[in-house]
Amino acid sequence: MSGWLDGHAALITGGGSGIGRAVAERFLAEGASVTVLGRDPAQLDQVAGDPSRVHKVTADVRDSGALHAAVAETVERFGKLDTLVANAGVWDYQRQLTRLSGKEIDTAFDEVFSINVKGYLLAAEAAWPELVRTRGSIVMTLSNSSFYVNGGGPLYTASKHACLGLMRELAYELAPKVRVNGVACGGMNTDLRGPEALALGDRSIAASFAKRQGAPPIPLHDSGTDPRDFTAPYVLLAAREQSGTITGHAISADGGIGVRGFARAAGGDHL
Ligand SMILES: NC(=O)c1ccc[n+]([C@@H]2O[C@H](COP(=O)([O-])OP(=O)(O)OC[C@H]3O[C@@H](n4cnc5c(N)ncnc54)[C@H](O)[C@@H]3O)[C@@H](O)[C@H]2O)c1
Repeated sequence: MSGWLDGHAALITGGGSGIGRAVAERFLAEGASVTVLGRDPAQLDQVAGDPSRVHKVTADVRDSGALHAAVAETVERFGKLDTLVANAGVWDYQRQLTRLSGKEIDTAFDEVFSINVKGYLLAAEAAWPELVRTRGSIVMTLSNSSFYVNGGGPLYTASKHACLGLMRELAYELAPKVRVNGVACGGMNTDLRGPEALALGDRSIAASFAKRQGAPPIPLHDSGTDPRDFTAPYVLLAAREQSGTITGHAISADGGIGVRGFARAAGGDHL
């Protein structure tokens, strides 16, 4: 095997579906061993790859003790930890302020922030001592909502902006031994759920994709929504030989939202 992550060991939160699972399978194909952590064991069983290089942990990312145990099991099983991919998250289905009551904000804010933001911070807290040992790195799944509005409502957009700040702060605090970067993904057809507090825990973003008509309003509107198409930046950022000078940076894989301009790309299908 000769991949960009030969002999590497990674821990991926939310690794049983969507972009987390796609990253797990890509890391395996690049020669890594992976611990996938998630709250649904049936999802974790879906991860395809050499079973001797996959370790599954059923846990909630709001549970610091479980994250410490997952790091310890990764080191016990694979000898070390090179990369933490902080990824597990929920969406708010673009529930705007005018459609939220104070009571809903009270409970849904706590749920969204405790999974999306505290879950990343707790995972980083559990992993950093091992990452110092290996001169490893953290890669966070960020979002177009880490930079721009209307990819979520106020709860999700604020949480993903918070993750961007978290990524930058930790890049400063953990240098020079540990690099911390992010991949700001655009729309992906996954199983992304909403908060229980808004009764959206059973709703999947896949249903929204199924209903979607027409192309998305992004310059690369014919780019894919399969999460596997978003995994290469994770490999790049995890591989110290390839990205040893990069920290505190977010690679946007969002179809060019940042150069969208007012309404649509200046080019177009006739070019
Ligand atoms: N789907 C998109 O369009 C999109 C776009 C940009 C960013 N993202 C981000 O990608 C990340 C992954 O989401 P996805 O789209 O792959 O959705 P997904 O639901 O397919 O994957 C998320 C995984 O996290 C797990 N999870 C959720 N809450 C958890 C918890 N409390 N404890 C443990 N595991 C938990 C889920 O069970 C699931 O396996 C999220 O951070 C999301 O915000 C998604």
